[in-house]
This record gives sequence, C-alpha cells and structure tokens, in this order.
Amino acid sequence: MVKICCIGAGYVGGPTMAVIALKCPEIQVAVVDISVPRISAWNSDTLPIYEPGLDEVVKKCRGKNLFFSSDVEKHVSEADIVFVSVNTPTKTQGLGAGKAADLTYWESAARMIADVSKSNKIVVEKSTVPVKTAEAIEKILTHNSKGINFQILSNPEFLAEGTAIQDLFEPDRVLIGGRETPEGQKAIKALRDVYAHWVPMDRIICTNLWSAELSKLAANAFLAQRISSVNAMSALCEATGADVSQVSHAVGKDTRIGPKFLNASVGFGGSCFQKDILNLVYICECNGLPEVANYWKQVIKVNDYQKARFVNRIVSSMFNTVSGKKIAILGFAFKKDTGDTRETPAIDVCKGLLGDKAMLSIYDPQVSEEQIQRDLSMNKFDWDHPVHLQPTSPSSMKQVSVVWDAYAATKDAHGICILTEWDEFKTLDYQKIYDNMQKPAFVFDGRNIVDVAKLREIGFIVYSIGKPLDEWLKDMPAVA
Ligand code: NAI
Repeated sequence: MVKICCIGAGYVGGPTMAVIALKCPEIQVAVVDISVPRISAWNSDTLPIYEPGLDEVVKKCRGKNLFFSSDVEKHVSEADIVFVSVNTPTKTQGLGAGKAADLTYWESAARMIADVSKSNKIVVEKSTVPVKTAEAIEKILTHNSKGINFQILSNPEFLAEGTAIQDLFEPDRVLIGGRETPEGQKAIKALRDVYAHWVPMDRIICTNLWSAELSKLAANAFLAQRISSVNAMSALCEATGADVSQVSHAVGKDTRIGPKFLNASVGFGGSCFQKDILNLVYICECNGLPEVANYWKQVIKVNDYQKARFVNRIVSSMFNTVSGKKIAILGFAFKKDTGDTRETPAIDVCKGLLGDKAMLSIYDPQVSEEQIQRDLSMNKFDWDHPVHLQPTSPSSMKQVSVVWDAYAATKDAHGICILTEWDEFKTLDYQKIYDNMQKPAFVFDGRNIVDVAKLREIGFIVYSIGKPLDEWLKDMPAVA
C-alpha cells in the first residue's frame, strides 16, 4: 500500500490530501502539523477551515484512509511520498526583507525528513516557493541522507479558496516538475499515477523542476495583474463617467481576453497574490532584471492605491472626517465562501478608517471576533507563520466591535462599507437598514454587489467602485 504524508495541515494540505484520500481509497494519507490545536480541529466536527464541500469529503475518509496527526516524525518516516505544504512567509528582516520568501519552515521540514527517513522517498514541494528552492532542499536532503535516495518534485497547488474542493475535483491542470534523470522521471510517474485516479492525463503537465516552480509564481502574477488592470480602469471610469462593469463586459467578450477575473473591487487579497509577486520581484532583482521587477511591482502598487482610494472616498464623502462615527463593515474575509482573512483588503480599509478615529462595527458570517482583532493589531507579514508562533496581540481595540448580524452592525451607523461579496449582502432589507441609520446614510460598495438605483431610491448616498458617481461625491477629492 502506498503511503502519503503531508507536512502542513493548512488551507492547502488539508483539502488536497482529503481529496487524494477520497479519490484513491487504496492509498493511506496522513496529514501532520506542528500545531496541535489545528490537528485536534481536523479530528473534530468543526474543521479548522471553512470551505464548501470539505466537511463531506473529510467525513467520508477520516479514520479509513485519511488521518490527521501531530506525530510528524512517525508518519514522515513511514511514507513513500512526502508532500510539504508549510508556510512560506515574506521575510521581515535581513537579506530580501519585505520581498523574499522566508524558507525557515521549509528548511526545518526538510531537515526533519532527512533525520527520520529510513527508506527512499519522493519529496513533493506543495508550498509555493521561489524558483530553485528544490535545489536547496535537494542539497539539505542529500547531505544528510545516510544513503537514502530522495527525489524532489515540484507540484504547486492552483486551487482557489472558496472553490477548493471543486478545483481539486476538476483541476484545469496538475503540474509536476522533476529532474530529467531516469530516477526523476520515475518519481514524476509515481505522482502522476496518484492524480491519474481522477484527473484526465491531458491535464497532467510534466515539466522540469524550475519551470514548475516558476509557473506557479507566474500564474498568480497574471491573475493579480488582471485585477489591478480592471481596478486601474475603475479609477478612470469614476473620473470620466464610464461604468467599469460595462467596460469589463465589452473587454471580456474578446476571446483572447475572456470574461473571468475582470470584476473591479476594493482590491485583491488572500495569502498568495501579494506574497508571490513580491517573491517574483525579488527573483527578478537578484537576476539583474530591474525593468521586469518594476513591471510586476506596479501590480501591487495599484492594489494599494485602490484600497487607499476607497478609504479616501469614505472620509471625504462624510465631510472629511469619520472621527467618532459608527461605520458598519460588512464582510471581512478576503472573498466570499471562505473564512480566510490573510491579506484581506478589509484590514487596510479598517486600519485607514481607524486612523481617522472611526468606530467600526464589523460583521462577517465566517470570521470570528478573535481573528478580526488579531488581524487589526498584527504587523504586516506576521500572519503567515504557524498560529502558535505569531506574536500575541495586545488587548483588543476599543474602537472595534464585532457583531453577528448585518442589522446589528448597521444600526445607528453613518455609513456601510461592503468589503466581501457574500451573497447574503445582496438580499438584505436595505429599507429597514436605512430607517435605523444616521442621516445622511452612506453605502460604499467595495464589491459592486448592491442595486445602486434601488438604494438611491431608498435615500442612500451610494458609492460603487468604477460606477458613475453620486451627485454627492462629484466634487469630492478622489485620489489617494
Ligand atoms: P497555512 O498557514 O494554512 O498552513 C501551513 C501549515 O504548516 C500550518 O498549519 C503550520 O502549523 C504548518 N507547519 C509549518 N511548519 C511546519 C513544520 N516544520 N512541520 C509541520 N507543520 C508545519 O498555509 P496554506 O495556505 O496551506 O499555504 C501553504 C503553502 O501553500 C504556502 O506556501 C502557500 O503560498 C501555498 N499555497 C496556498 C494557497 C491558498 O489558497 N492558501 C494556494 C496555493 C498555494
């Protein structure tokens, strides 16, 4: 029986391994983590992450061929294939600070694999890593191998949170990179055979190691670039009276461009886009390519500009001050159908409003008060470490309250900011909300989900990203 072990029971390790276990009943899959609470949660009725369809998959396999354990060494030593899906945060200190990936967790995982292994293993990079990480990992493993043969593969994950299970069931492609030696090719085949249980062969792409590593960074950079492109357009639409939804629709009809990922918003978030682009920028700089580095850096700059522009719109509309005013924040996760708040634009928007002394009342159907308080008090990049190693947050902020209902959040508020596109925000009783708010009552829609005409009819002053401006906003300063 083939045994698989995955180090790192996070957003990637948990769902990917659960799907492998479901699709390959004859393979035994163990997911291990240094975080004991995280493993306990995976073994409980309340999984540590929210992802549509995940509960059912885990329930079908857990205890049969899917196991979650904190006994990392035991499961690694027994495995034939070891996936590594640990954190790869952005470095905050030293060489490459603010850009380069911090491979501390990766390196410690690699050293542990070398220490405990008694049989040959295929080691699979599942985390997103800088190009040529495999070479470094290979060196650590072979210099500590005690005669054991390790084959390194790169198998980056392309799932999107919120649709992870669907993406894993029917991936656009599975990418496997390996050495171009007979042993490397044999390892590629072994991993390909796992995916071939449910993924058509023409969707399994095999490349060399470096191409696989770089493809993951490139794919995320291209995706983020589309969002920054449409967001840059949204600023121009507001200035000229065009409607960004109409522009996106017209542009997306071109089959060379396509309609997906062209929605203007308050900005992209999530654990990967910014981190991976910074990483790409750093690699370009290290390779003497400053023009290429600057090109990609601009994608992040536009994203920061979009968040700052949104805060400016709010403050300038409300007579240039939000000091002491209650602002309802609807949605905190970085997108709908996930409870993940890593790099969510809500953090920067809330911090911007708090900087202007607003009183925030936050509601998100999937994010806890503890998480929100932690996010708002953490320094940039600190979130991307195992939970028990994150700096503990100071006492919670008095200006922030977290409630469990959109109506409670908006009661007596001066303004509402919609920061996540949760479906339930489309069908709220906005008349009731309006009646219970201070006047003038504002809605700032950072996801373009409300019916602007209907809300204006009720009496709201509405700002929707990239849409023709409300009369109220026309003479207000727009730029960040
Ligand atoms: P995560 O933070 O949810 O999970 C990582 C887990 O690794 C944590 O539970 C941590 O406790 C554990 N860990 C760290 N060092 C360890 C060690 N030495 N031994 C055992 N466990 C250890 O992170 P997530 O989101 O799963 O990401 C993992 C990697 O996958 C990152 O490189 C990320 O860039 C990449 N990725 C993430 C995607 C996403 O949508 N979240 C999509 C594709 C790739």
